[in-house]
Amino acid sequence: MTTTSAPAGIAAGLTTTRAAFIEDAREHGRLYIDQPYDLYSAENHDAWHRLYGRMHDRWQRYANARFLEGLATLQLDPDRVPRLEDVNKFMAPLTGFRAKAVSGYVPAYLFFDCLRQREFPTTITIRDGEVLDYLPEPDIFHDIAGHVPMHTDLAFADTLVAFGECAREAAVRIAAIDDEHERVRRMTSVIKAMARFFWFTIEFGLMKGDDPDTFKAYGSGLLSSYGELEHCITSPEVQRVPFQLEWVINQSFEIDRYQPLLFVVDSFDHLFVEVGRLVEWMHAGRLDNVAAGEPAIGEADLASFLEAGRAA
Ligand SMILES: [Fe+2]
Repeated sequence: MTTTSAPAGIAAGLTTTRAAFIEDAREHGRLYIDQPYDLYSAENHDAWHRLYGRMHDRWQRYANARFLEGLATLQLDPDRVPRLEDVNKFMAPLTGFRAKAVSGYVPAYLFFDCLRQREFPTTITIRDGEVLDYLPEPDIFHDIAGHVPMHTDLAFADTLVAFGECAREAAVRIAAIDDEHERVRRMTSVIKAMARFFWFTIEFGLMKGDDPDTFKAYGSGLLSSYGELEHCITSPEVQRVPFQLEWVINQSFEIDRYQPLLFVVDSFDHLFVEVGRLVEWMHAGRLDNVAAGEPAIGEADLASFLEAGRAA
């Protein structure tokens, strides 16, 4: 066995927030990294095994059909943390998408620009096996088991690429505004609109099921959460409304609770049409004045867009 297991309390394997390898990469400014597979500890693989095992029945019941097909295509091992290399072997021939290992937070523009190039920034650490349910940071279970199966679908993959194009064109359009205060204000508004669209679709999207009045999940935040996946489909406390672009881009959200409001698309072709409208609205200036509220746009995200606009 080549895995190493550090003594308790010391950076153990590749556990989220406790991985020495990741701390070192961040300290040295390395955002794009390799996946040092041998560093996963027995506990890390066990955490994956338990996360994957308990989701199986819920995915069959509540996930949309394309997710289940994607999961089968990727041939993820239920017992071991996946190797990104293996995932890419199955995914890249289908849609050109590849998972790309990152050491941590990717500023918004860079994140969207990776999508434009059909690369998916992927966290390689895995949550502590003691706290399977709640994790504020993304981890490899969220990124690979929650997001990546959808990336085998052509319309879904094209939707992600359109986000990247929207980001690039927005950065260029807004860089042309002379007044600095106005440039920052509008850029902040566009990023907020894009973040809300991403949240209510890619992260927390619902789709109509085959039977009328039924729903299936396709958002990765739902598909990687044991509790919320059932709650989002069955709870009477959740409002499920047809996707409306003007509503979505003006709607605040909170990240640390089950979502009380979810938007429903008909299909991935429908989702692709809506992201196309988002791009049109961006060009028409209709994302420049969205409602205040969450998410707050951080300095690093704003700077990443403004710099990209200047450089273009
Ligand atoms: Fe995510």
